[in-house]
Amino acid sequence: SSQHAFIAGLPKVELHLHLEGTLEPELMFALAERNQISIPYKTTDEIRAAYKFHNLQSFLDIYYQGAGVLITEQDFFDLTWAYLEHCKQDNVIHTEVFFDPQTHTDRGISFDTVIQGIHRALEQGREELGITSKIIMCFLRHLDEDSAIETLNQALPYKDWIIGVGLDSTEIGNPPHKHEKVFAMAREHGFLTVSHAGEEGPAQNIIDTLEVLKTSRIDHGVRCADDEQLVNQLAEDRTPLTVCPLSNTALKVFEEMEEHNIVELLRKGLCVTINSDDPAYFGGYMNDNFNAVADAHAMTEQEIAQFTFNAIEASFITTAERERLR
Ligand code: ADE
Ligand code: ZN
Repeated sequence: SSQHAFIAGLPKVELHLHLEGTLEPELMFALAERNQISIPYKTTDEIRAAYKFHNLQSFLDIYYQGAGVLITEQDFFDLTWAYLEHCKQDNVIHTEVFFDPQTHTDRGISFDTVIQGIHRALEQGREELGITSKIIMCFLRHLDEDSAIETLNQALPYKDWIIGVGLDSTEIGNPPHKHEKVFAMAREHGFLTVSHAGEEGPAQNIIDTLEVLKTSRIDHGVRCADDEQLVNQLAEDRTPLTVCPLSNTALKVFEEMEEHNIVELLRKGLCVTINSDDPAYFGGYMNDNFNAVADAHAMTEQEIAQFTFNAIEASFITTAERERLR
């Protein structure tokens, strides 16, 4: 496409990014060595060769294993800083990042270690790179609700650093109702809420998420297309969907980018956005995701720019912060 230059120059806002999913094989190796942790790969090529997925679970198994090299506050700083450098390169001016506390606390890493490293890198990114950011902590939906409640309690001392809570991991078999109580508690504490839904799971999961968890956004949400009435409702309400094109083709939600429905949803008036999800695992950061969609679907520059306007509309920035992005 001749639109790659336009995309590169377009300011972008990312709303669906798992920091653990930005762990590039080179850093995984370096941290494994630094922390004396053995990993089942001999070279970075071997790691990349293992990244062949056929569904969400086949990815999650490898992704949780990869996160095992993250031990110290400096590791979480280095991980976050490397992501911010990609943001700078891709002209991402604001990002709302996810992290999964339970992936780390279940291995004996303290919540404090994780959040301090992430927060320090984001502050430095604000000062040195001019990139603004928010932190959203996600509960792992394959774990029980008591574990999520414990995690919420661990987060309370850091409430000023965490704008919201989310819900990720295995969608099928773990419906929104499972985490109804912890989401109510989080809202009581003033956290905003988002949740993965309608990635692999049915459109009904999107309906239930909005109803039961009362979220401000839906992460993925592409399976809304199976329910015409839901699509119309999402368009009318401008409910944001944080769509991740290269993730969806990597995990076979769509076999080919040409089959992806994001442009169709955009033209139906939904507040769809483009995001990278787990860029180290799915083959690209923000510009790569925009380029892949533009290469597979003819769009005007106005339509491409609309993804950024939608992301600004969907973001958790305050009115004062919004002025900067105009
Ligand atoms: N955790 C990281 N990436 C995810 C995805 N695409 N779906 C569910 N959980 C995730
Ligand atoms: Zn995700």
